[in-house]
Amino acid sequence: MIRLAARLGGIAPFRVMQILARARAIEARGGDIVHMEIGEPDFISPPAVIAAGRAALAAGRTHYTPAAGLAELREAIATYYRERFSVDVASRNVLVTPGASGALQLLLGVLVDPGERVAVTDPGYPCNRHMVAMYGGEPVPIAVDVVNGFGIARRDLEAAMQGGLRALMLASPANPTGNLIANAQLAELADCLATQDGVLICDEIYQGLQYGSEPETALQTGRPNLVVINSFSKFFGMTGWRVGWIVAPEGLIEPMERLAQNLFLAAPTVGQYAALAAFDSATMMVLEQRRAEFEARRDFLFDAVAEMGFGVGRRPGGAFYLYADVSDFTDDSQAFCTRLLEEVGVAVTPGSDFGNHLAARHVRFAFTTGIDRLEQGAERLHRFLRAGG
Ligand SMILES: Cc1ncc(COP(=O)(O)O)c(C=O)c1O
Repeated sequence: MIRLAARLGGIAPFRVMQILARARAIEARGGDIVHMEIGEPDFISPPAVIAAGRAALAAGRTHYTPAAGLAELREAIATYYRERFSVDVASRNVLVTPGASGALQLLLGVLVDPGERVAVTDPGYPCNRHMVAMYGGEPVPIAVDVVNGFGIARRDLEAAMQGGLRALMLASPANPTGNLIANAQLAELADCLATQDGVLICDEIYQGLQYGSEPETALQTGRPNLVVINSFSKFFGMTGWRVGWIVAPEGLIEPMERLAQNLFLAAPTVGQYAALAAFDSATMMVLEQRRAEFEARRDFLFDAVAEMGFGVGRRPGGAFYLYADVSDFTDDSQAFCTRLLEEVGVAVTPGSDFGNHLAARHVRFAFTTGIDRLEQGAERLHRFLRAGG
């Protein structure tokens, strides 16, 4: 047996992958599953993006790019901030990465020393706490729930800061709650962290997927201790191309570039050329139609599950998730998810994938499938609950 590094002990697998594997096995036997567990858009990449990727391949663009990314893509991202959000970002402050995942690895790599504490929301994106642990840091959960509107209260941050904090990681819109955090509050959190030289890491990967309000960026706060992470994965529908980015203050860019040269050399070249077409006006029109479709799905699913007795609080303002309280039906959300899958063919993710706080009382629904399938899913849920859950 080859001995594993001790750091693996802190890295839990995604339970959703087990659910997905089991769902695929049921499908392979001819069963039908309504997939509400998958955290990526069902739409394929917009046509102009696919065409740009094809053209890059046809032109033989198969070599490395610079570690910081293609200069024209860094420039296009800076222009996007200027045109869409009226905020000045210099292209030298933009680093192109292999997805938001690559951005998180670089950022935590240059920020976190072993033993340092980094606050993460609980529930939150699970890789955050795992990546902090990979670098020897200590993830410090800050509980968020329906009572505080899934937002982070200043007093909770201050409590976490008692033991010293290197950074706070949050996402807006958030996974798994779909919660939005207003810029005024982000500015307050950044200022609070600044009293300890702490950094606010704002993950904006679901930016653009917003319902009933205009997308913002934390960069509009102008805070100097702020780093923004983003990606072409979700709003732009490019998960498989593996391209994301990070906007950071000057002093962090060169160290992250150095780390990128050592960790993965550069983001995928074809993906970067494809991403150049992501900001085209034709692409933006396609993406807006998709956003509207996600909004219709959110409304359908929210109303359907609220009526059945799931605790869903307010309508989520962004992303493509509903984080639902199932405590009226069970005190074990993981077992509940397993039964839903096995008995009525509905796949959803247990709260335990996203942390510990009230995890056994929650499941995450992803509305990453069409309304017709969501309708079938809702009918099956209804049947399951009527039969006694
Ligand atoms: C909040 C959040 N951040 C980052 C990621 C990673 O995305 P990617 O590496 O595809 O850009 C995800 C993926 O689900 C996510 O939900």
